[in-house]
Amino acid sequence: MSDETAENQAPDDASTRPHKPPHAEPLVRVRRIHRRDLNRAWEFLKLCFRAVNRETVEYQRPRSKRRFLEVYEEEGVEQLLFEAGAEGDAAEIVGYAECAFEITGSDNWMNENFFTRRGMRPMFVEELAVHPDYQGRGVGSFLLEQLEHLARVRGCTHLVLEVAENNKRAMQFYRARHFQKLDAAVFMARRVDADEELLPPRPLKRKRASADDDKKTAKKASAKKTAAERPAKVAKVVKPVGEKKSVGEKKSVGEKKPAKKAPAKKTAAEA
Ligand SMILES: CC(C)(COP(=O)(O)OP(=O)(O)OC[C@H]1O[C@@H](n2cnc3c(N)ncnc32)[C@H](O)[C@@H]1OP(=O)(O)O)[C@@H](O)C(=O)NCCC(=O)NCCS
Repeated sequence: MSDETAENQAPDDASTRPHKPPHAEPLVRVRRIHRRDLNRAWEFLKLCFRAVNRETVEYQRPRSKRRFLEVYEEEGVEQLLFEAGAEGDAAEIVGYAECAFEITGSDNWMNENFFTRRGMRPMFVEELAVHPDYQGRGVGSFLLEQLEHLARVRGCTHLVLEVAENNKRAMQFYRARHFQKLDAAVFMARRVDADEELLPPRPLKRKRASADDDKKTAKKASAKKTAAERPAKVAKVVKPVGEKKSVGEKKSVGEKKPAKKAPAKKTAAEA
């Protein structure tokens, strides 16, 4: 009789192994955006472009919340959300892709004739963003493949997008996926050697006393001066009448000798 206890079963017996989902990693799903997602999607985009915006001179992405909300109302624009984890409210946005089938508000600097003259029917990739914590895990490739799929289904011949040349990660990403530069337009800059328009900093002067303060200090000073100038009171020593100078009694310093009386000149009559 064979032993059927769990301990004696072969470890690789597939029929008894607990059911495991086929994917150990969470799935990434794509769906169209809803009105209720707009605030969350806006915050998501700000987070994704924070680092890029610090380094690029081109317009800041995402443009503005007002524009973002307008886009939702526009015809011919697709806004796609890519989510990971559980379905529903618990799902986390890990990617966002936006595309348009004609030149829209944010692309009105483009020359439409450029494409028509060359028989191109472009799909404009307006935004492509992956959550910083999920970059490098194939989400960006999923976004782009989804857009390419839409382009094919809608009869477009090219994906067209704009990217800052110094957004190195994105440039590498697009080049590796066979995107080529369309136009020679780049932002250029040159330093202008010129004097500074504003003067350099200078030391701060000590605060000058006000007229009132001047009066007060003058008053104080004069009060001190008169006190100092006032002669010290000398106690008068009253000598008893007829008292003689004692032998050792000295003249005080500075006491002057009485001037000798000059002999009176003889008058002419006396002579
Ligand atoms: C550009 C961007 C969409 C790419 O998304 P992603 O999810 O990282 O893309 P993937 O994981 O599919 O591919 C990333 C590639 O970079 C490589 N890579 C190397 N080091 C990496 C790193 N530290 N982190 C991410 N990717 C890295 C990957 O190996 C992969 O190489 P491959 O092209 O040979 O496949 C994403 O970086 C992003 O959202 N950037 C900020 C927003 C932005 O700049 N958008 C573009 C505006 S036009």
